[in-house]
Amino acid sequence: MPTPPPLLEETLDPQDWSEVRALAHKMIDDAITQLSEVRNRPVWQPMPDQVRAAFKSQVPKQATPLADVYKEMQQNLTPYPMGNTHPRFWGWYMGASNFTGALGDFLAAINGSNLGGGITAAAEVDRQVVNWLVSLMGFPDSASGTLTSGGSMANAIGLNIARNEKAGVDVRREGVTSLPQPLRYYASDQSHSSSQKALELLGLGSNSLRLVPSDAQLRMDMTALANMITEDRANGLRPACIIATAGTTNAGAIDDINAIAALCQREGLWLHVDGCIGALLKLSPRHSHLVAGIERADSLALDLHKWLHAPFAVGCALVRDGRQHFAALNLHGPYLEAKPRGVSAGEFLFDYSYELSRGFKALKIWMSLKEQGTEKFGRLIDQNIAQAHYLTGLITSHPKLELMAPTVINIASFRYRGSGGDEAKLKNLNSEIMLRLQEEGTAVVTDTTLQGRYCLRVAIANHRTRREDLDVLVAEVMRLGDTLQLAM
Ligand SMILES: Cc1ncc(COP(=O)(O)O)c(C=O)c1O
Repeated sequence: MPTPPPLLEETLDPQDWSEVRALAHKMIDDAITQLSEVRNRPVWQPMPDQVRAAFKSQVPKQATPLADVYKEMQQNLTPYPMGNTHPRFWGWYMGASNFTGALGDFLAAINGSNLGGGITAAAEVDRQVVNWLVSLMGFPDSASGTLTSGGSMANAIGLNIARNEKAGVDVRREGVTSLPQPLRYYASDQSHSSSQKALELLGLGSNSLRLVPSDAQLRMDMTALANMITEDRANGLRPACIIATAGTTNAGAIDDINAIAALCQREGLWLHVDGCIGALLKLSPRHSHLVAGIERADSLALDLHKWLHAPFAVGCALVRDGRQHFAALNLHGPYLEAKPRGVSAGEFLFDYSYELSRGFKALKIWMSLKEQGTEKFGRLIDQNIAQAHYLTGLITSHPKLELMAPTVINIASFRYRGSGGDEAKLKNLNSEIMLRLQEEGTAVVTDTTLQGRYCLRVAIANHRTRREDLDVLVAEVMRLGDTLQLAM
């Protein structure tokens, strides 16, 4: 009998770990250079066509040495990030990431655990981070929480539990077609679109969301809210939930959470707070009073990739009554039976989430909270708010600039007026200023329309920003505005 050929068994591990060790060290060195010198780079730059084309190549069938893969990455990917790690990035509403958090993501991948279930130290870290947030937000010990991909998913979880608790039927079993009355949710006309998307996902339809007008401070108008609830009841609809926004995306306005909580109590409604922007104000020594009452929420969404600067993406949903949270999301197939001992003992984290497989997002937060302490994050929040007020001062002292909304926290909205013009002209002019700022790599600001008026928006959720960066912004807006106005 001929001897069979030796069995060739493969692995993804490198043949030579020492070679990979040297390359990995270089990657870390390059990463540190990239981050420590970020201020010297353009905030953002457009990708040349040949770089874009490089991402259209076919799926590789054959191996390429990792050093070559990394070289290609350095060439085509590294120079073209969004720019939110740069001190002059103030677009939409981002965080600026942090190096320890990045190490956390790397080390989480090395640990490799799936946190959906099982007894692991990683799951304990996840629980600890959630418990820290429970206590920071002033929720009771009976509260539960789950780390999510971001605020959108955290809002969806809160609004899901609100639906189940207020439906009047067992929605998990019977579905939304069995609802005795259509449900209604209320949020200000400044609230984030993720709430509407969540209601669509929950099968309630976008009509279930009533947008309450905002007042001059861009906060939910309480009289209009109370009237809508009365009107809906009279029309046979079932008011279920008020979504208070603690920090609107447009202008950072904060709804009167205590007044809304009192109304929810009187009316028997669920209080969900979208605290994706503002919940972490709780850490701020000077501004925590702005979110007074947040601890009265039945559910709360917060984003840790914003003011905690965790690398994207991680948010959190907290629920006052952990039993309601569990009742909305627990489900075990026969392949997921909990056991009294061994790796599958104990509570499964997926019972509080839509997602079964769960990454180790908690590690980056756990590491940076331990390294920096919550007091430092609180001070950084106050620093950003002081910077937004500094910018507001520059805007109001300049006759060619117009402040478009009160600056409450870290978002300032303004536009270049120059010698004036109608709404359409000012929109064209300011949008061109914004695009030039981005394309020239000077700063990234974005835009919005506030109560019908177009403006630029500067959201300073950035631990690298200094006041001199805001001086640069104003000088450049003035230069571009003056030049473009002549040409337009
Ligand atoms: C107030 C508010 N809610 C919800 C979200 C959605 O959060 P995410 O982008 O993390 O899904 C945002 C995003 O900026 C937001 O500003």
